[in-house]
Amino acid sequence: MAPTKTILRALAGETLPTPPIWMMRQAGRYLPEYRATRAEAGDFLSLCYNPELAAEVTLQPIRRYGFDAAILFADILLLPQALGADLWFVTGEGPRLSTVQTQADFDKLGPVEDIHETLNPIYETVRILRGALPSETTLIGFAGAPWTVATYMIAGRGTPDQGPAHALRQENTALFEALLARITAGTIDYLAAQIDAGAEVVKIFDSWAGSLKGEAFEKYAVAPAQEITAALKERHPHIPVIGFPREAGDAYIGFARATGVDCVALDNSVSAEWAAQHVQVDGCVQGNLASRHMVTGGAALVEETKAIVAALSKGPHIFNLGHGITPDADPDNVQRMIDAVREG
Ligand code: CP3
Repeated sequence: MAPTKTILRALAGETLPTPPIWMMRQAGRYLPEYRATRAEAGDFLSLCYNPELAAEVTLQPIRRYGFDAAILFADILLLPQALGADLWFVTGEGPRLSTVQTQADFDKLGPVEDIHETLNPIYETVRILRGALPSETTLIGFAGAPWTVATYMIAGRGTPDQGPAHALRQENTALFEALLARITAGTIDYLAAQIDAGAEVVKIFDSWAGSLKGEAFEKYAVAPAQEITAALKERHPHIPVIGFPREAGDAYIGFARATGVDCVALDNSVSAEWAAQHVQVDGCVQGNLASRHMVTGGAALVEETKAIVAALSKGPHIFNLGHGITPDADPDNVQRMIDAVREG
């Protein structure tokens, strides 16, 4: 049966008169209602693992703006936690994890079969959302790509250049690849369980793909995305997959063909005109307004939004930002962006 929801139509390759819209980090600190629910939960991880409250913050931007998709509220670092890493968040700084740098560290991780014990509340959030979302709104599940997740597991935190992960990949390739394989297997089971619970699309976030070059990009960004996509398509042939190899640059070209993803999400370091010519020829693209416009607003926001819509209007397109909205964004600018897209 042909899909009726706009996001699913675009993902099936249809060129729509107006692109559907959602926004990375649409549930987040720029919204006062998010900050209130997060305070009620106590902290970020307690919010992720509380199905009622996680569903509530997922729904907040849908109620406020009527986005065409909701993205499950969770985090890419819950999978490492479910695989046995310690995880905590330092306010104002970001995530911290126990590190995986030696065989002994790796041996402390648990088997993939055990992840659901930790992740069951996330699947419950998905089930609540499928019952609560408006009938026209698509529910997107997600996970981190193996390379990006590994960068956090190896360093124990976010790093500007992913130095510790690159060092391990060069100095102990076997251990690095064993870690990547564990994360890949966990990601397949995690995303399949989100789909079983009701996710209609899944997105794989490779936020640090841009630091992999040449052969390393092929081995550690393309191959895992291909493996995950193929395994999911085998279990759930009709569920579209969005890939986001952020800052891939020229390596965006052919990414959909090489991995089998249904849509490539673009960061804002590539122009929409370039993407129309080199990436959209292979199918749906998503993106790619710079998230700073959500802070700065004004005429530039409207002009740039309309320019992206126009440049990508001849093929399947889902409008989004090039990366997550930041906590200092003005919620009114989000409405201005949506109006600019929908006015055409
Ligand atoms: O997009 C959404 O609305 C869905 C929820 C979502 C979150 N994180 C919630 C979150 C999604 C899809 C993510 C993905 C994620 N998490 C990525 C990939 C995308 C990207 O941004 O590149 C990464 C690298 C992470 C890891 C992570 N989580 C970091 C580095 C941080 C700290 C930085 C920050 O923004 O504070 C987080 C925390 C986090 N994840 C927040 C939210 C709403 C902020 C936590 C808070 O409320 O204090």
